Amino acid sequence: MSKLTVKLGPLELENPILTASGTFGYGKEFAEFINLDRLGGIVTKSLTPNPRPGNPPHRVVEVTGAMLNSIGLANVGVDLFIQDKMPFLQTLECKVIVNIAGESLDEYLIVLTKLETVNNGIDAYEINLSCPNVKEGGRTFGKDPRQVHRITSALRELTNKPLIIKLTPEVSDIGELGLAAQEGGADIISAINTFIGMAINTKKRKAVLGTITGGFSGPALKPLALAKVYALSQVVSIPIIGIGGIFTVTDVVEFLLAGASAVQIGTANYIEPKISEKLVDDLHQYCEENKLESITELIGTL
Ligand SMILES: Cc1cc2nc3c(=O)[nH]c(=O)nc-3n(C[C@H](O)[C@H](O)[C@H](O)COP(=O)(O)O)c2cc1C
Repeated sequence: MSKLTVKLGPLELENPILTASGTFGYGKEFAEFINLDRLGGIVTKSLTPNPRPGNPPHRVVEVTGAMLNSIGLANVGVDLFIQDKMPFLQTLECKVIVNIAGESLDEYLIVLTKLETVNNGIDAYEINLSCPNVKEGGRTFGKDPRQVHRITSALRELTNKPLIIKLTPEVSDIGELGLAAQEGGADIISAINTFIGMAINTKKRKAVLGTITGGFSGPALKPLALAKVYALSQVVSIPIIGIGGIFTVTDVVEFLLAGASAVQIGTANYIEPKISEKLVDDLHQYCEENKLESITELIGTL
């Protein structure tokens, strides 16, 4: 067993570095930059039952220390994913986590049921309950612990694969959402998705994004994300994947100390496509320099 191996309930990773949904396409887009098999795993873009073109422009804008996006879950839809994207993903040795989104409970169930027909190549599901740019009846249902419980337990009945519930930070008590997911049968929690932010063009006196507000991600998010991961670690007993503004090995270590058992790299992929593989190397070096037998020695030891 390598020094970097981590076990998240039923999901064992060669190392704790994963890529974050929506920032790494369907994996193949990054194959020319890095050796995907060196990562702990990749998380694919959110899938919905039907293809989605996404939101009108502008969909991305850089702001101080961060970016805003309103992609709106643009994706190929689950059928084309199975037909066109799965064959490549099935060739990978790293873990493949398929992210699912929907606008209603039924949509999540449809996508997961179709993915369950795929014979090999999917190691876990991550359920995006938190997209800030898609709402059911004008409401982000990932903010309601009862809905989180309802969706988690309905999906749990349909699969034996590891079920990861991805949470929104846009609540006053993220611990409540984490407990709802845990009680609904989730194996793992990932935290966090983006916060909601906006940018204004003062010349045009208009919001920059076509949707006015959008998801705020990148380095400026890290202290907020760390606090959410720490808060979750105080109340849930299932493993946590930390996400938010991770760019360096120090960032990774901070999340592990705060209680995460693995991390996802998001916005950093846009700035440095090789970053995830570099972080695996940097983490090995960190273990050597700090004389760690195993990276797990750090987890939740704050
Ligand atoms: C352009 C963009 C698209 C995203 N699309 C998705 C998505 O489809 N599904 C999802 O669960 N999260 C999505 N996210 C959220 C990221 O997975 C991640 O939770 C968030 O960006 C925080 O991490 P970061 O600061 O490292 O980017 C997206 C983020 C960005 C920047």
